[in-house]
Amino acid sequence: MGLGFGGLGFVSQPSAPNSQSPNLTAHRLQSRFVNIGVFDSGVGGLSVLREMRRLMPNADMTYLADQANVPYGPRPLSEIQTLTERGARWLVSRGCDVVVIACNTASAAALGHVRGIFPSVPFVGMEPAVKPAAIATKTGVIGVFATAATLKAARFAGLVDRFASHLRVIEQPCPEWVECVEKGGTCDAVKAKLWPVLEAGADALVLGCTHFPFLQIEIDAVIAEFGIRNSKFEIHVIDPGPAVARQVMKVANSHSGGRWLVEAQNLASLPASLQKNTPFFTTGDAVKFESQARALLGWGDIRAYGV
Ligand code: DGL
Repeated sequence: MGLGFGGLGFVSQPSAPNSQSPNLTAHRLQSRFVNIGVFDSGVGGLSVLREMRRLMPNADMTYLADQANVPYGPRPLSEIQTLTERGARWLVSRGCDVVVIACNTASAAALGHVRGIFPSVPFVGMEPAVKPAAIATKTGVIGVFATAATLKAARFAGLVDRFASHLRVIEQPCPEWVECVEKGGTCDAVKAKLWPVLEAGADALVLGCTHFPFLQIEIDAVIAEFGIRNSKFEIHVIDPGPAVARQVMKVANSHSGGRWLVEAQNLASLPASLQKNTPFFTTGDAVKFESQARALLGWGDIRAYGV
């Protein structure tokens, strides 16, 4: 657990002191920029990657999806640990300087483990954003939507103890939502899982799985339908993606050995040739991944490779 970051949606090691301001007004453009590895069981980590790309247009990013083994959620923690170690090893062997475990389930099962195995690599992991939800709620009821593995991990129990022991926390495992995002198309299971949590009075909803921000339109539609009939309170949906991206940027700046990142505010002054594409890799079917990623990200130019 990183010092002082608990419950915000990300888990990071404390940064090394950084003499370089990350808020650049003039950039040093060098031949090799920091390379950030991003790992998920499937396409969910793309919800974090899109936020990272917005903030860091000139960073090299390498995405690995373990789609041969998705979903991770129903698997035992020991198996998730083995799979995550394999993914992290592959990203490190490709020269990634920083690795983002863009998966709550893999982070819950294996973040400490991979940090032990690769002590010189900074890892940023994810955890359900219980703290912002605890701050936002007016009803005293929060809903956490995640995989079964995330909800049963000790890390989650620790978050609830620290930040929400005075609240009612409704844990809602949603394996169907992961399946919907991997398959594409509409998802009837959104209403089935969300409605009872709203009926129980939850007004702060934590998206504790990186696949779920891709269901935002359906989630908003259910909240709107519920709100018309019932709610007296504003309902907050907490996607930790933007906070995780900011944390990755801080860590990458601290550890990039002078290979500075350029923030989005400076994008206009960055030559187009230095705005990077991301190579995508999957243990599943690369052609299928390309069409999934194009649909989810809305980017035209996506190349995926099988590993
Ligand atoms: N995207 C993953 C997460 O954030 C999990 C999906 C799965 O079950 O593989 O937890």
